[in-house]
Formats: sequence, structure tokens, C-alpha cells
Amino acid sequence: MKKVISKVSELDFNLSDLKPMPAPRKVLLVKPTHFDVEYIINPHMKGNIGDIDKMAALDEWEHLKNAYEELGLETHVLDGVRGFPDMVFCANQSLPFIDANGNKKVLMSVMHANERKGEVPHIQKVYEESSYEVFHLDEEKFDDFEGMGDALWHYKRGLIWGGYGFRSSEEVYALISDIYDVPVIKLELLNESFYHLDTCLCILDEKTALIYPKAFNKDGLDLIHALFENVIEASKYEAEELFACNATSPDGKNVFIQQGCTDVNQNLRDHGFKVHEFSTSEYLKSGGSVFCMKMMLW
Ligand code: ARG
Repeated sequence: MKKVISKVSELDFNLSDLKPMPAPRKVLLVKPTHFDVEYIINPHMKGNIGDIDKMAALDEWEHLKNAYEELGLETHVLDGVRGFPDMVFCANQSLPFIDANGNKKVLMSVMHANERKGEVPHIQKVYEESSYEVFHLDEEKFDDFEGMGDALWHYKRGLIWGGYGFRSSEEVYALISDIYDVPVIKLELLNESFYHLDTCLCILDEKTALIYPKAFNKDGLDLIHALFENVIEASKYEAEELFACNATSPDGKNVFIQQGCTDVNQNLRDHGFKVHEFSTSEYLKSGGSVFCMKMMLW
């Protein structure tokens, strides 16, 4: 089985040979205590320095936290740390995994921007306290990798979709495939507004994905269509302004998404999903929304 795949012609496995992973039931959240826009590291942050309504941000975050709990998931809250205004986006600092024997592992990120590098040790502590085996990248060889901002688990298929181009190096995926012994489908990202894979691909269940097609090249789109039976496409407005593809489905049935994604939401309902809309207006100013404000853990 070829481990890192970048073209449909390289797919040399049957979907039925892939082993699903147990669904994670814990949600790590970082309280937005020190959340703000203090620097510009993606195009969405431009013009928004110092413009966060702190009370609204807390309110939006709490609604999301409550919603995970309503679905029966266990939330684990970490306090924000002064000096790290983006730490609330806790999808980015790590990539956790559980193997067939229930051993938990995690690969810690190497953040692309200097401003975010110091977040990683704070998140690492959570894993150490939950008996994960912690792996690190050799920073001499890999200058960036931003965890589940770019490496998305397709749990039901036991494979990873890996984005590269803006925040993560293409080369890192061979190593990830080795450490976790899973195939990685590599996708090049083309558009700076969609700088993380989680801004343009949302894996909803085994067979369904929500995408912004113009963020990918032809090889990438062909791979997405080869591995998902249902591909829902977001418009430029809903994807770029409302971060529709940064939605999340914690259980493959319910979808949490930024409010106002009218067309995507209709499409999701037509595919049998239950849609729950949330305001993440303050986080959109920083280039993030629902998906990147949490990390699913075992
Ligand atoms: N301001 C943050 C950054 O640019 C936002 C991160 C959002 N995370 C995500 N996975 N899309 O790093």
C-alpha cells in the first residue's frame, strides 16, 4: 500500500481494506481569555488588530462549549495564556491518534509563525496528563506543520487528508504516515484565503465532504471525488466570508457551523445532517471558526 498519495492513479487500496478508528469523545477547548488580533499572519486578520469584542468572543465560545456538552461529549478546558492571542485555535498545535490497541500518540506542531510557536508546550501538557506518547518533529528538517489545521482525520476510513502550501510542509506527511501507519492523501492548497486545509475541506462522515473547490488543483479535486461519494460545494461567499468549510460534525450526524451559510446548510439538510448554527463573528476576524476552535481527543 503506497502511503502518501497525491494523485488518483496512486490509490492502490480498496476502501474496504481501511480500518476505522474509534470516534473521539473528548473535546479540548482553550478559553479565549487572551484572545485578540495582535498581528497579521493570514489575510482575514487584516484591518482587525485590536478589534475583538472580548465579551462577545467569550459568549460565542461558551455557546459552542455548551453545544458539545449537549451532544454528550466531555469537554476539557484549558485557560488561555497571556501573550498567545491565537491559542484559542487549539486545532493547530497537535495531531493526536489512537492505534488499534488503544495506545494514544500525538505529534506536536511546529508553528509557521514565530508569534504562535510558544503555544505548543502549553498544549503538550494536556497530552502528558492524559498519557499520550508525545512525538516531535526535527525542526532542522521540517520548518512547519500546523496539526489539525492541515492534517484532517477521516476517522471512519482510518486515513489522513494532509494540506500543504501555506502553513505545513509537504514533506511532513511521509513521516506522519510512518508514525501512525496510515495512508495520507496529500492536497496542495492554492489560495491564501484558504491557508489551512480546514478552511476548505470539512469531513462530515465516511462518505460526505464539504469543500470550497477553488482552493484545490485538479489532482486534489479528483482525489476528493474518488474517496467521497457525496461532495457538497460551498460558494465563494459562504466559504471565504463565513468559513462554511470550517464546520465540524462531532458525531457524523450533527453539524456545527457559522451562522448564515444558507446554501450550504440547505445542502447539508438535504444530505440528512442536523445543522446547528453558531455565531463565531469575533473568531472570523482572526481567520478561524468552529472547526479550529477545538481539538477532538480520546
Ligand atoms: N489567527 C490564526 C492563525 O492565523 C487563526 C487560526 C485558525 N485555525 C485554523 N485551523 N484555520 O493562525
